[in-house]
Amino acid sequence: MQYPDWFNRRLTERYLRRKGVEWSGELPVMDMRKPPQFLRFGSGRIKLGSGVRIFTHLGIPKLHVGHGSVITIGDRSVINGAFQLHAESEGGITIEPHVLIAPRVIIMDSNMHPISEGETWSPRPILLKRNCWLCDDCKIMPGVEVGEHSVVGAGSKVTDSVPLRTVVDGNPARIVRQVVCRDDWVRETDPIWIGSHGRDWFQKR
Ligand SMILES: CC(C)(COP(=O)(O)OP(=O)(O)OC[C@H]1O[C@@H](n2cnc3c(N)ncnc32)[C@H](O)[C@@H]1OP(=O)(O)O)[C@@H](O)C(=O)NCCC(=O)NCCS
Repeated sequence: MQYPDWFNRRLTERYLRRKGVEWSGELPVMDMRKPPQFLRFGSGRIKLGSGVRIFTHLGIPKLHVGHGSVITIGDRSVINGAFQLHAESEGGITIEPHVLIAPRVIIMDSNMHPISEGETWSPRPILLKRNCWLCDDCKIMPGVEVGEHSVVGAGSKVTDSVPLRTVVDGNPARIVRQVVCRDDWVRETDPIWIGSHGRDWFQKR
């Protein structure tokens, strides 16, 4: 069943307010046919930029944001199903505009438990820069920064920062090649996503 566009928008707005999510500009696109759209844990802040797309057909995204931490998702970024974010650091997790995140990606800025008795652990903020692309099932570990236009290959585990315009793959992730592009390039998403509030995308399936 397809809800009319205005109804879908109203559901999305109410849903985000109930979850205490802030957004600016264009309302995020979510498929409201199958609530809940994402699970939220913790009392930190979640800020969405303009026209963020959150797709849930491959599983419900989970956002854990501890007290005093913040998750920021930049304009036009795309988040896919079964995606998990765990933010505990003060700086939290920052996703810049036009970032693509494939299904099953996990991003954590903290180990969340001590390794040995009496030890502490310090969360370290994560930064995903503009137009980077995290492929299916990769993991981004505490303190990592992924550079502008860079790509993290499927199934990779990223423990060190990734320079700009670089493709990394493997566990631990290693550089395999360079991305060639203009500074202002934006990676294409599937053109059928472009539609009124994601509606075309859902209608065609
Ligand atoms: C990152 C990616 C796009 C790179 O594609 P590519 O440049 O065509 O990669 P190639 O197949 O040429 O591989 C380059 C090298 O990295 C290795 N490699 C590629 N993907 C790898 C992976 N996920 N893990 C480990 N090594 C990998 C290849 O074996 C190859 O090594 P070699 O040069 O020694 O032979 C691709 O590996 C990938 O992860 N695709 C999945 C895309 C996805 O998740 N889409 C979901 C929708 S958003």
